[in-house]
Amino acid sequence: MKERFPPINKKCPHFLHGGDYNPEQWMQTPQILQEDIRLMKLAGCNTMSVGIFAWAALEPEEGKFNFGWLDNIMDKLDENGAYAVLATPSGARPAWMSRKYPEVLRVNPDRNRIFHGGRHNHCYTSPIYREKCRIMNTRLAERYKDHPALLVWHISNEYSGDCHCELCCEAFRKWLRNKYADSLDKLNQAWWTAFWSHTYTDWRQIEPPSHLGEGSINGLNLDWKRFVTDQTIDFFSAEITPLRELTPNVPVTTNLMGINQCLNYWKFAKEMDVVSLDSYPRWHGEQDDWRLALQVAFVHDLYRSMKNGRPFMLMESTPSMTTWMKVSKLKRPGMHLLSSLQAVAHGSDTVQYFQWRKSRGSAEKYHGAVVDHSGREDTRVFRDVAEVGRALKKLDDIIGTTTKSQVAIVYDWENSWAIDGAQGLRWEKNYIPACMKHYRPFWSRSVPVDVIDMEADFSKYRVLVAPMLYMVRAGVAERIEKFVSDGGTFVTTYWSGIVDENDLCFLGGFPGPLRKVLGIWAEEIDALYDKDLNYITPVKDGESGLSGKYQARELCDLINAETARVLATYTEDFYAGRPSLTINDFGKGTAYYIASRNDERFLEDFYNHLITKLNLRRDIETEMPVGVMARTRSDGKQQFAFLMNFTSCEQNIDLASAKFRDMLSGVEVTGRVTLPAYGVMVLQRQ
Ligand code: GLA
Ligand code: ZN
Repeated sequence: MKERFPPINKKCPHFLHGGDYNPEQWMQTPQILQEDIRLMKLAGCNTMSVGIFAWAALEPEEGKFNFGWLDNIMDKLDENGAYAVLATPSGARPAWMSRKYPEVLRVNPDRNRIFHGGRHNHCYTSPIYREKCRIMNTRLAERYKDHPALLVWHISNEYSGDCHCELCCEAFRKWLRNKYADSLDKLNQAWWTAFWSHTYTDWRQIEPPSHLGEGSINGLNLDWKRFVTDQTIDFFSAEITPLRELTPNVPVTTNLMGINQCLNYWKFAKEMDVVSLDSYPRWHGEQDDWRLALQVAFVHDLYRSMKNGRPFMLMESTPSMTTWMKVSKLKRPGMHLLSSLQAVAHGSDTVQYFQWRKSRGSAEKYHGAVVDHSGREDTRVFRDVAEVGRALKKLDDIIGTTTKSQVAIVYDWENSWAIDGAQGLRWEKNYIPACMKHYRPFWSRSVPVDVIDMEADFSKYRVLVAPMLYMVRAGVAERIEKFVSDGGTFVTTYWSGIVDENDLCFLGGFPGPLRKVLGIWAEEIDALYDKDLNYITPVKDGESGLSGKYQARELCDLINAETARVLATYTEDFYAGRPSLTINDFGKGTAYYIASRNDERFLEDFYNHLITKLNLRRDIETEMPVGVMARTRSDGKQQFAFLMNFTSCEQNIDLASAKFRDMLSGVEVTGRVTLPAYGVMVLQRQ
């Protein structure tokens, strides 16, 4: 892994600060466009994302293009030392196109074609839509390829969803023929279609999953999701072909939606030069901010890990509130700088917003924006944004730095789909919350973590945590065995090693191919109602950091130890006395199996013990108060530490004798420091 990555575009070795800018909404009021430039400078913004939903403005009639307004904006940005993240407009079509070429419109699973409207709802297969995008993108690239403002290509917007039109169904069948080497026998076997007489005898019989038709074949459901990912990537590849040809040095990205389940982002990330994230946490909501902060941190770590430590772009966030949540709460004072720098702490080289100026009408007119309907600069939100702008200007040295982790948590999209799609256990299987729960003890002790998928290279880590590794794709178990026998520590849980990549159960005992490395055999799994509780207790009090009783809820695996040693057992019900935590020595390493979904105290004790035993590297060697988080970025020589207080009260942190320079205030810092409510410090180690 690199120590320091180049800036997103070498043209601009600074943090990108800005937002979605939609001048096409303001064409009738040129004075507003003029004012925007003045305000952008005041807010310390150096980048604007333009053209995102601008097709109707760029091509008001078929073949009649109008780039004048965009030329003007690009020129203005450049004249004022700013850059454009230039979008392709495919996220929303113009009405003339839907009317003339209905095939560009998506077809629902009930096989009804949608009407024109909304956004993000085109067909990914339609040759006409692809051709229209090719023409548009070629024009954009030809026109702006040498424009000094062009910095990054922003492809479409939040690709998502599927289409059930005949073109897509045919493409799916083709995809299947390719995957199953033209053999229906192979497909029938992989999908276990003999169940309920679902055997296919002709490729034309295969339809995508639908509530009106097939929904019960897990293998089909999974393959459909895989196809949708591949088809979206194929569409994305078609979109970027002209850009690659005409602007080979301009990086390409598309904004992804955190851990949204629509597409396998692990696969998608590989296709872009830099990944970008839209992040809208519900701050000050129904859970403590610090708990939410840890979920946000998990997602940020995922995005940094997606391209092996390469900094990502926080492409969208809100400067104040969002409008599509139950309650549109404002960010409390301090939270804007804190949440923006949290993204930076975890590896973002940008802070960008939706949107620059609040729209006057239509769907999102109340969504938080830098410039409100008042148009004023003396607002709290504008000042908050300007504060971020000032802060980022002082952090140039951090650009391209990254975080090296000794710990990795496996979060895998296909695994998530398979878990959610399986009937049984409980309706809510809570895979993602489980991953986040296992992340928390590392978060609270400032141990950096990468979030990876099961295809990643495990060898650079010392600890690999894979909660609910339900699906184990070919080759993964072998790589885990190698990781452990080479000295690694592997931790997995209940409901692991159950199915292969087609959702076919492993025969011969769970956890299937992980059985040897874990040294156990999982016989049955009990699901508990919310009101129910079991307990687990260590066999030897004090061993492995465990003491007393811990609560086990929701899922309790009934396992038999084979070569593993039992560290804890259940205390209640008919399985009292049976193992609930095991350890298996394997080669030079160790593998743990946590058989039940245990309380937070268990996870804290268990992982704290591991952190100490393995002497895992911590970002800051000091205990943080609950809700305070430290995270560092480094280039191998310089170290930058972010101290973040996600609580609404002042917090003290003891930095002991370590010496730092506060990059925001310029003062030297050592010993005890105080962070105000929602306060953040960026410290350079001296
Ligand atoms: C998404 C979209 C934006 C906007 C914001 C705010 O992330 O990409 O266009 O709709 O949400 O709601
Ligand atoms: Zn389609």
